[in-house]
Amino acid sequence: MTKSYYFYTFFVPLILSVSFLVIKQKTVAELCEIKTCPYCYGKNMCNEIAKNKITLQYGRVSDFIFNIFSVKNVYFATYNNKPVILKKLAHNSEIQKFDKDLSDKIINLKLLRGTLNFKLTETFENSHFPPFYICDNETFDIFWELLNPSSIKSTYTVLSLNAEPILLQLFSKEQKFAVPKFFGACGRVTIQENAGKPLLNIEKFNWYQRAKVAYNLLNAAQNFTNDHRDFRLYLTDISPDNIVVDHNLEVSFIDLEHAILKKKTENISAGDVHYSRHDEEEYSFDPKGICGGKLSDHNIYGVCRLLLSKDAPWPMMDGGLLYNPPNNISNRHPKLFKNIENCVDSDIQTDRFELSNKILKDLHFILRKAKIKNLI
Ligand SMILES: Nc1ncnc2c1ncn2[C@@H]1O[C@H](COP(=O)(O)OP(=O)(O)O)[C@@H](O)[C@H]1O
Ligand SMILES: *[C@@H]1O[C@H](CO)[C@@H](O)[C@H](O)[C@H]1NC(C)=O
Ligand SMILES: *[C@@H]1O[C@H](CO)[C@@H](O)[C@H](O)[C@H]1NC(C)=O
Ligand SMILES: *[C@@H]1O[C@H](CO)[C@@H](O)[C@H](O)[C@H]1NC(C)=O
Ligand SMILES: *[C@@H]1O[C@H](CO)[C@@H](O)[C@H](O)[C@H]1NC(C)=O
Ligand SMILES: [Mg+2]
Repeated sequence: MTKSYYFYTFFVPLILSVSFLVIKQKTVAELCEIKTCPYCYGKNMCNEIAKNKITLQYGRVSDFIFNIFSVKNVYFATYNNKPVILKKLAHNSEIQKFDKDLSDKIINLKLLRGTLNFKLTETFENSHFPPFYICDNETFDIFWELLNPSSIKSTYTVLSLNAEPILLQLFSKEQKFAVPKFFGACGRVTIQENAGKPLLNIEKFNWYQRAKVAYNLLNAAQNFTNDHRDFRLYLTDISPDNIVVDHNLEVSFIDLEHAILKKKTENISAGDVHYSRHDEEEYSFDPKGICGGKLSDHNIYGVCRLLLSKDAPWPMMDGGLLYNPPNNISNRHPKLFKNIENCVDSDIQTDRFELSNKILKDLHFILRKAKIKNLI
């Protein structure tokens, strides 16, 4: 018997079970750090927490490990017995830096507006690209009007650390965007619906189920681009870890920290459209180009390139989401697979918006014909 045998069979389980007993399990109220308010994410959920309606889950070993050693600061919990996710929205070091820089800064509305305008729109000029980026002053003005001036300190805190809660409200599930329902915040914790399991969990699902997910992903990409009244939202961290799928195969984009916001304008002519440039070696995007167009195909390109294409790169599953189609599908719908690859490869000067619509149409047709319950 080797030393490593004893290590894995004896010490590791021992250490895990001892930690299970010894590490003080945090309570939700402790996670919230309510004393940080008004420099916190909000307080609307504090009452629910005080009434013990939100409980951290240590049920499964994976939940336990995730919750105790949460580098990501993401916690699994239940709210009225439904699964939710608690997020502190930043790493501890980022939060500490925020608190340190905060030291008795006087924050009034004018100063806040200027600081945010600078932070979110102009830092880019100095070649530092912020996670949440607002394309221009006109877009910033519209965005600013929608923020609540009575809670400027909390707005300042959120936008300094992670714009996700604001985007979850602006592009809400209630308005049919593919995001988790947002319940609100208490102190330095936000609460959102647990919208399912990571995309890679459906790797072994049958082709029709994966086709439905592909349909929902592309539809969602179009919705972020076109369906908001005032803005277009371009997601800049599209990745299988940032997408979850629920039991009805509905998808949610769960990590909205990285995004670009652009004012929506109508009357778009061909010259106003930004087409993403495809690089076979490495996925990349061009924020200046995205912001320069009245409309960009960025979201559609991202979904085709990173998730649907047979060449979708790691961490996506081998062969992309639509790998290994049934013979009758690949025989009858060769165009579907061709359009997906064309949607990736922009050297062929075809319009990705048009391709995306064709792909959706084909998938819809196939799913309807398959008549599998719940598919469409
Ligand atoms: N609303 C949610 N529903 C289900 N799972 C979620 C949700 N939010 C986060 N997760 C899980 O937690 C992980 C980390 O969350 P994320 O917001 O992506 O944090 P990070 O910024 O650290 O990547 C995700 O990859 C996902 O597995
Ligand atoms: C945007 O607004 C800020 C603050 O009002 C101003 O300093 C800056 O010059 C403006 N930028 C452009 C490109 O107009
Ligand atoms: C996107 O928009 C379409 C059309 O309005 C709608 O049917 C759909 O539910 C929306 N959401 C998603 C995630 O596709
Ligand atoms: C868009 O075009 C329509 C019809 O051509 C015109 O009436 C309208 O004023 C235009 N809107 C903008 C914002 O240019
Ligand atoms: C393909 O074959 C499967 C069974 O093998 C069938 O359920 C499905 O409806 C067929 N699809 C088409 C498009 O003919
Ligand atoms: Mg993530």
